[in-house]
Amino acid sequence: FRGRGRLSDGPRLGVMATDGAPSTTSAAVGNEVELAAAGRTTQGVPPSDTYLKESGHWIADFAEYADMYRRSVREPERFWTELAAREFVWHPSAAPTVGDALQANFDVRHGRIEVQWFRNARTNICYNAVDRHVHAGRGDQVAFHYEANDVDDARAHRAITYAQLLEMVRRMAQVLRDAGVQRGEPVAIYMPMVPELPAAMLACARIGAVHSVVFGGFSAESLAGRIADAQCRVVITCDGVMRGSKLVLLKQVADEAIALCESRQPGFRVHTQLVLRRVPERLPHVTMMPGRDRDLHQAMAAVDLSAAAAPATATTNGAEAVATDGPLLAADVEWVHAEEPLFILYTSGSTGKPKGVLHTVGGYMVGAASTFKYAFNVRPDDVYFCTADCGWITGHSYGVYGPMLNGATQVLFEGVPTWPDAGRLWAIVDKYRVTHLYTAPTAIRALKKAGDAFVKRYSRRSLKLLATVGEPINPQVWGWYHQVVGDGRCNVVDTYWQTETGAHMIVSPPVRGFQQKPGSAGVPFFGVQLAVLDASGREIPFQPGVESEGLLCIRAPWPSCIRSIYGDHERMESVYFKPFPGYYLTGDGCRRDGEGYFWLTGRVDDVINVSGHRMGTAEVESALLRHPAVAEAAVVGMPHEIKGEGICCFVTLNDGYDGSGALRDELVQMCRREIGPIASPDRVQWAAGLPKTRSGKIMRRILRKLAEQGKHLDVASLGDLSTLADPSVVDALVRDYVEE
Ligand code: WT7
Repeated sequence: FRGRGRLSDGPRLGVMATDGAPSTTSAAVGNEVELAAAGRTTQGVPPSDTYLKESGHWIADFAEYADMYRRSVREPERFWTELAAREFVWHPSAAPTVGDALQANFDVRHGRIEVQWFRNARTNICYNAVDRHVHAGRGDQVAFHYEANDVDDARAHRAITYAQLLEMVRRMAQVLRDAGVQRGEPVAIYMPMVPELPAAMLACARIGAVHSVVFGGFSAESLAGRIADAQCRVVITCDGVMRGSKLVLLKQVADEAIALCESRQPGFRVHTQLVLRRVPERLPHVTMMPGRDRDLHQAMAAVDLSAAAAPATATTNGAEAVATDGPLLAADVEWVHAEEPLFILYTSGSTGKPKGVLHTVGGYMVGAASTFKYAFNVRPDDVYFCTADCGWITGHSYGVYGPMLNGATQVLFEGVPTWPDAGRLWAIVDKYRVTHLYTAPTAIRALKKAGDAFVKRYSRRSLKLLATVGEPINPQVWGWYHQVVGDGRCNVVDTYWQTETGAHMIVSPPVRGFQQKPGSAGVPFFGVQLAVLDASGREIPFQPGVESEGLLCIRAPWPSCIRSIYGDHERMESVYFKPFPGYYLTGDGCRRDGEGYFWLTGRVDDVINVSGHRMGTAEVESALLRHPAVAEAAVVGMPHEIKGEGICCFVTLNDGYDGSGALRDELVQMCRREIGPIASPDRVQWAAGLPKTRSGKIMRRILRKLAEQGKHLDVASLGDLSTLADPSVVDALVRDYVEE
């Protein structure tokens, strides 16, 4: 690749007009002009006075935000290096430097896609997230208030301080080392939301291993695919857990997944499975395979911490390792290069099996921490509560790394927002005096539907900031979050991003002078250069007062950008970088209003957004096709009151099968078993035939319209159907459509 990337080739320092006026549109970099326009709007909801009074601020106002943005895109190397050096501990002999900040090629026409930030610098993200706070005298600060599923599970509920967490992580790290886990080696984590889950992630990071967290709601088949893809030889799991009123048997699923992997790949073996005993009273007899399975807590208790200071590469740590913040760097920490892998997290695409998105240590640390800091304004005496499970990227960046790198106190919630009733979140808010809440529109819709009484039963006085992520929030739901949950006192912050972006790309910064527009995600975060492309791939330049709509792309590398798809770099290039050379393609459509605000309009590919989780329609289709009755299946999203998008399946049956209710149930079960409960179809429609072009491609836009409008679909409104092999299928589909 081309050494110093295109960032340095682009337009550089702002050209000042001779009269000293600020740079003109053509000289602006990134979205400076959009930000200037956004700063002038009077159309939105300004931050409430109470919020501004009660909340700490890192930056004075939106003018300062825009100024920082300007610096971040004009001199990204300097901006991020200064921030990185200021905010984190690096190995004293390998701190980041401006000259070494960025090596990148973001343009397929110039060869292999490559993004490297601070590649010669060395650090450890676990040290920065945990040890550093303890060394700075904040060991007694609570890292996690652990709220178990059952309200009265007195034994489980507890507060874990940073000092306690450090000990837990060090013990777990040593258990992993003793199991032979090497620097760079992937470890699978399949756990519920218990403190041991973030601890396991941090333990991996501490020894330079790579975590691959698999959401505890995924099936054995999905877990097996992920274990096999990264060839994980160590799995960390849990006997079981209560989710609401249901007992989930994680260990049993993990055993099944391991057996599947081993039977499919002769010679492959998971040699160690660490098992947390979470519900021994409900599951007294969990079968442990001798030689492979170990009780996690017993193994941790057996660690002699005074002897634990023996990292695999002791020579690279050296006695000279004195942190810039004073105390000796912990001897059991592996000081990895910034571009070494930190984690793999699988996400669905429009085709094929889920992609293992790979993030690396340094850039991800900078991205997760800086977005958390500036988008949320959390102070040490605040209590922050992110409802996302660690199995998703939100749980990684804003349930573990972002908050902990900022030394925040968090709530870690094992249960579900609707159990024992729809007041649970608000009970938690009052119990821990939560100041910042981060959740998804789907949860807000579900709670809104349950009625205001559940909310009003609790005081919620502590709340200051309400944030959302995962899908567009519609203005009515925004209004309910703001007015009913927040009593109009709180700042509402929308955040748009993806597993691949690692951290927020678009935010509604909670600062004086920035007006929230309900339904808009807001404006780009520092260093993010957004571009709106038309269908032919031409960038639509921003003009104040003019609205544009197109594909959302990103023009230059940001620190927490995806580095690769695990084991398939080429796939990353073809999915994100080949469609429009020079740009990263998000896969989302967007509208940019005349004041520079971005409004997401949904996926433009065959990916649907079910309850804020990404689901590839192709994955559901292949699950359906495993049933002997199914000849063909086409899956599309359909509007769903709570989930945002529901899963609608059009299924053609093989001869000899009839579409019955029992068969429908079997197909639903099939999807749950193959993928997990989040893939449960909301609707199964029997179809005599699917609308295909002469070349055999299914015209999904017809099915999407049908799923949306049902029997009311006006076939004439579908436009040109002449490319269909048999246009009469459409009439048949409408005729046979069963409203539910
Ligand atoms: C997709 C990414 C990243 C957190 C959770 C989902 C959609 C995400 C927003 C938002 C509108 C959003 C996009 C994106 N999305 N946040 N604030 N407004 N849409 O992560 O599974 O990687 O999915 O979620 O469609 O591409 P993910």
